[in-house]
Amino acid sequence: MFIDEMNEQLNKLKTKSSVKILAIESSCDETSVAIVENGRNVLSCVIDSQIEIHKRFGGVVPEVASRNHILAIDNVCKEALTKANLTFDDIDAIAVTYGAGLLGALLVGVNYAKGLAYALNKPLLAVSHIKGHIASNYISHKNLVPPFTCLLISGGHTAILDVKSYTQMECVGSTVDDAVGEAFDKVARVMGLSYPGGVNVDRLAKEGESNINFTHKNILAGTYNFSFSGIKTAVINYVHNKQQKGEPINIPNICASFQTFVVGELCNKTLKAMKDLNSKKLVVAGGVSANSFLKKELTNRCSELNYELYMPELKYCTDNAAMIGAVAYFEMLNGMQSADFSLSAKSTLPLGIKKG
Ligand code: KG4
Ligand code: ZN
Repeated sequence: MFIDEMNEQLNKLKTKSSVKILAIESSCDETSVAIVENGRNVLSCVIDSQIEIHKRFGGVVPEVASRNHILAIDNVCKEALTKANLTFDDIDAIAVTYGAGLLGALLVGVNYAKGLAYALNKPLLAVSHIKGHIASNYISHKNLVPPFTCLLISGGHTAILDVKSYTQMECVGSTVDDAVGEAFDKVARVMGLSYPGGVNVDRLAKEGESNINFTHKNILAGTYNFSFSGIKTAVINYVHNKQQKGEPINIPNICASFQTFVVGELCNKTLKAMKDLNSKKLVVAGGVSANSFLKKELTNRCSELNYELYMPELKYCTDNAAMIGAVAYFEMLNGMQSADFSLSAKSTLPLGIKKG
């Protein structure tokens, strides 16, 4: 019964001029609630980051993340409503990230969203975190529409996607081992840089020179798939070697050398894929899109090739609920039905259909 009524409500929203979605994100170490109008207009976005809590462990501890989501979520939700100057009565639908991410962390958001949908009698849209990252660009670039090629680079994913519409995409290539953000974080950790390491590697690389050749087997040359475990291990071995010999390490030079290689891989493979796909529009998504060297490289190379380049604003690069509200709106317009109360979380989700 609930489902029929909710789907009827969703159907009516398709023609409503202002659709306000309250979105919830809790897939990793950020508890976030946002209210987004018509997929592009962020009325509020509150992010309660647990970075300071996890720093002392050198990475996210899943159980600690879940417990802190529970403590934070209600206040974050109230703050999001207050900031948007709205009440629950003004909300048309609830959206939540149901995957991919840490299972226990996701479950907090999913259960909170189910509770809200039940209490408010509003439709529940269960959306993908991965698609959310892509949709962060619809917020930052009001005129951006698919199709385009997407370079998805986060702590959990690395892929080149052929995005065909707001809801459909094909995976052209992906990592066979570590995600790029994960490699940044692990390399940072071995040098004693604090979690999350990516931003620290980015900062220190600016003071260094890319003059160290981290020899490793580049197993996937000539394909659209990525491998970052070879370079990661080469950096770790280099640092351990130096430490064993009691020799000093030049952290900025290590950061610059690692980053130059990684950004080179990301740019070369993506631009080659775009050539083969006959695509001239590139959208970057996920936490690593905050990397300043990547931004510089892609800006230069896309401008040389006359390609359009879109990257999210810095505040929407890493995890946030605004991107979840954005993708939920487009999913709803394209026929997504309301989830029911059996909705659960999923730690992994497919990256669209695999090409070939
Ligand atoms: O998208 P995100 O917030 O979470 C996931 O869905 O995984 O991405 C987090 C990742 C972390 O690995 C973090 O180190 C990386 O994004 N990151 C960066 C930068 N800022 C965040 N990596 C390189 N350079 C940055 N400036
Ligand atoms: Zn993310």
